[in-house]
Amino acid sequence: MTAQPNLPPEWHTLPDAPAAGTVLLHRDAVLDGQVLMHSVAADPAKPQAKPFPLLLLRSGDHITAFANRCAHFGVPLAARQEHMIFEPHTSLTCNVHYARFRWSDGVCDRGDCEGDALTPVPLHIDADGQVRIGPQP
Ligand code: FES
Repeated sequence: MTAQPNLPPEWHTLPDAPAAGTVLLHRDAVLDGQVLMHSVAADPAKPQAKPFPLLLLRSGDHITAFANRCAHFGVPLAARQEHMIFEPHTSLTCNVHYARFRWSDGVCDRGDCEGDALTPVPLHIDADGQVRIGPQP
């Protein structure tokens, strides 16, 4: 029997979470097999708000998003795009203590937070390829 992962916080409860429907980018901005770091601009109506960091993972026409927030200490997995460690379509790894997360569901399968998971963020891709934050569950 496979152990169930510890549930991460719901994405919309994280500080400065963008509203459902927020346009992120065009699907073609993410290369197949890439983990792209992408920040959603802070709400200008909220002076204390900060950009919301995402990780966008593309496999074929499908894009998966996680909050760029390690399940171990809650910090970004990488500070810069060129420091992002990943094996296309398989896993991504935090720069801090090298916990490894599965590409398919963000569950840590090796490292200090094994069994914990990255926070998934639902997406919707329009017919014209625009990627938006999906609806809240
Ligand atoms: S902060 Fe990511 S592995 Fe420790």
